[in-house]
Parts: sequence; C-alpha cells; structure tokens
Amino acid sequence: MKAAIATRYGGPDSVIVGDAPDPILGPGDLIVRSLAATVDSADARIRAMRMPPGFGVAARLAFGITKPRQPILGTAVCGEVVRVGPRVTRAGIGDRVVAITGMRFGAHAELVRVLPHQPVASPPSGWNAAEAASLVFGGMTALYYVRDLAGVRAGERVLVHGASGAVGTAAVQIARHLGAEVDGVCSGPNVDLVRSLGATRVIDYTHQDPTGDHDRYDVVIDAVGGRTFSHWRGTLRPGGRCALVVAGWGDFLAAVGTKYAERRVLAGVAPEREENLRELMRLA
Ligand SMILES: NC(=O)c1ccc[n+]([C@@H]2O[C@H](COP(=O)([O-])OP(=O)(O)OC[C@H]3O[C@@H](n4cnc5c(N)ncnc54)[C@H](OP(=O)(O)O)[C@@H]3O)[C@@H](O)[C@H]2O)c1
Repeated sequence: MKAAIATRYGGPDSVIVGDAPDPILGPGDLIVRSLAATVDSADARIRAMRMPPGFGVAARLAFGITKPRQPILGTAVCGEVVRVGPRVTRAGIGDRVVAITGMRFGAHAELVRVLPHQPVASPPSGWNAAEAASLVFGGMTALYYVRDLAGVRAGERVLVHGASGAVGTAAVQIARHLGAEVDGVCSGPNVDLVRSLGATRVIDYTHQDPTGDHDRYDVVIDAVGGRTFSHWRGTLRPGGRCALVVAGWGDFLAAVGTKYAERRVLAGVAPEREENLRELMRLA
C-alpha cells in the first residue's frame, strides 16, 4: 500500500509518500480503506518532537528515541471496511466508518488497521468522508474537556482560548450545546468563524489580553498552551475550573486535586472511548 512515512523527527519535509507493507489482520481487527484522514496537531507534535515543558524525554521513550517508532502517523480515518477478523461484530465489510487509531497512529495510509479497543462509529449522515474525519481529533478532545473534565453546566460562563482551532471550534459548540454562554479567543481573521459557532463575545488576541477580565468565567478551556493556571486564575469566579488542554508538568501535577482560592486546574489526556465517538457523531 501507499503511505505517508515520517523518516525522522523534523518539519513537513521529513514525511515522504512511499510503499509500506499492508497491515496484518488480527482476529479482532478491522482493515479500513481510507477515503480521508486528518493531519492534526498531534501528528505535527510527534513528527517534530515538539512537546510541552517537561515531556520531552518521556515522549522520546514513548514514540521513539531518534525517529518515530511508528513512521506512519495519523490518528483518525474515515473509510470503508474491507476486511474483518473472525471475532469482529461491531462492523462488516462495506460499512463506512470513522475510526480512531489515536496515539498508535497509522491512519496516513491507504489501508488502516483498527484494533479491537480502538473506537469505531458510523459517520453522520450527509457528511462526506473528509468532513467526518476532520471532526474526530478536535471533537473527541473537546467533548472530554468540556463535558467530562470541566463538567460545564447550563448557565455557566465559559471562555475558550484557541476557539478557531480543531479543539476550540468543537469546544465552543459543545459548551453552547450544554447551555453555557461562551466567549472565544482567536486571531482577527477567525473572529467571524468563532462568532458563527455560537460565541457571544470574541476576543482577538492580537489586540487584547484574554486574561485581563477578573472573576468573569466559571470555566476556561485553554486549547493553545504557553499559559499556566496562574495566568488564568484571576479570570475565574470562585468555584471556577481551568482546563488546560496543553499543560506542562507543573500544571499536570497541580491538577491532582489542588485548589487555589476555590479555583481548580484540570489537565489530562483525552481518552479514546467509542461511546464518546458515537456521541460526537450524533451531535454532528
Ligand atoms: N491533552 C490532550 O489530550 C490533547 C488532545 C488534542 C490536542 N491537544 C493539544 O491542544 C492544542 C490545540 O490543538 P488544535 O488541534 O486545536 O490546534 P490548532 O487547530 O492548530 O489550533 C490552534 C489554536 O490556537 C490559536 N493560537 C495560535 N497562536 C496563538 C496565540 N499566540 N495566542 C492565542 N491563540 C493562539 C489559533 O488561533 P488562530 O488560528 O485564530 O490564530 C487556534 O485557535 C495542541 O497543542 C495539541 O497538541 C491536546
């Protein structure tokens, strides 16, 4: 099969399109012929080995010391099931599915092996393959951060930092769906996009510091990185939660139950749950 292969850690030119062995089918696996796959910020991070502070060594141990151990990147695919293992009951040959390969990657290929624990769902009706695939990475992260980790409730006031990105565009919509009032932060050219997704107020970060408002938000979702809990603390009301999608070690450790003046920091890695993927497709 053809695949996009990351030959070393580096820029986009470290990826070549070449031949790779067809994936081997295990008894609980699906093989999906790709119609569309995404290149997302996780692919870019691993390809360039660009990690949040404190995670460099652990990331090299996990993903490869000198070059990606799994050279075919790609965390999500939409395509047609072409082979199924004898133990598979959740999909059949010919089904159109979206699937998450997640941190095992492998989706930037003509044929993608989906393991038994990796989520699979039907794409939303009326969506083409590219649209369905592009929903997965940001949508799964946002669903976990907004609904599960931050526990956004109706009537709360939420700020989404990075509201024009893959995670942020989904976070704005999911927070609105849960009944929150949402403000978004992005650059000038994306202000109309973020407003069209349901944000009440949109802050252009090139003109205004989003941490300038005091005691305003119940929840901050920071999907950009570079700022810590101490930057956002003042914007939170008492009882407020700051969910850092990109957290360094310090905030990761602080997220284990620490409270500062009744305000909490939350961090983690979005899990790959099939029920969440199904819910995301239903919401779409
Ligand atoms: N913890 C997890 O499980 C998890 C899961 C998924 C992703 N992530 C991480 O989350 C981050 C966001 O991912 P993504 O896929 O949404 O990225 P993305 O699509 O590239 O979006 C980046 C966002 O950041 C904004 N931005 C860029 N520079 C900025 C600045 N200087 N100040 C304020 N905002 C700025 C962009 O706004 P404009 O384009 O309008 O400038 C855009 O809204 C990545 O670092 C990714 O690694 C973590």
